[in-house]
Amino acid sequence: MTLQFRKLHPLFAAEAGGVDLRRVHDSETLERIRAGMDEHAVLVFRDQALSSADQLAFATRLDGGGLHRKTGISVLAKSRFGDEALTDVSNVGADGEVLDADDRKRQYGIANRLWHTDASFQDPRGRYSMLAALVLPPVASDTEFADMRAAYDALADETKASLEGLRVHHSIAYSRVTLGFEFSEEESDRLKGAIQPLVLKNPRTGRRSLYLASHASRILDRPVPDGRLLLRDLMEHATGPGHVYRHSWQSGDFLIWDNRATMHRARPFDDTQHRREMRRVTTLDTGDPARIAQAV
Ligand code: OGA
Ligand code: MN
Repeated sequence: MTLQFRKLHPLFAAEAGGVDLRRVHDSETLERIRAGMDEHAVLVFRDQALSSADQLAFATRLDGGGLHRKTGISVLAKSRFGDEALTDVSNVGADGEVLDADDRKRQYGIANRLWHTDASFQDPRGRYSMLAALVLPPVASDTEFADMRAAYDALADETKASLEGLRVHHSIAYSRVTLGFEFSEEESDRLKGAIQPLVLKNPRTGRRSLYLASHASRILDRPVPDGRLLLRDLMEHATGPGHVYRHSWQSGDFLIWDNRATMHRARPFDDTQHRREMRRVTTLDTGDPARIAQAV
């Protein structure tokens, strides 16, 4: 088996063929996947069949920086999969039934329809996210991705210079509150958020990207309204025509994206009628991803 990449969009995203990720243990192939991530930022692997344990083990082989245990719904409830590193991205409750329209878990989850990156509201933030499709609805339930390196590259030189060094506060409470979601005082206390640079540089490639999300509440170095307006302009710019890849899920799909280089959002579907179950593992953006590859 040899790994090959086939581009899915002029700017980014590729289908990766020729490997069963359960069997990828050699450091050479793992390094080619990391290099593929650096180049394409979103990789689509078809016909994969990873169990929870396979997914955790593969994530650890690919990224020696460690696994994130504080993303997504973990803020509200324990993971249905019994390990906080396995994020439940689904519209079903603990009993396995599709959630009602007014269920709190559902209302929290549909905020994935806002453009975001995973765990930007935590320190360390998320690096790679790996999403396995377990149960797909009979209707389209696509995910869109935006290339934040291309968004950065397309800015005028003086704009790039003006953004350098700016610091942004990201909070999951902020993005949910914009949708009318309410948090208890105890929850708000736990969700203080994190400060992130507005411009990130991939240490392996030197390539810069805009680091944005609907979690971005304000720019520390600007008056609040000025910062919010700038964040809105940049979000609009980054998600404009030509910068977005739309993924139509097929059974067996396993996607990896780089949260430093992309934003993503779920597209709406009739989620109170149809079941959609996905399982995500996200790595910590810390250290060198190849660090412990040999040790695994
Ligand atoms: C995620 C996410 C979007 C989707 O898993 O982090 O945002 O379409 N998913 O499920
Ligand atoms: Mn997400």
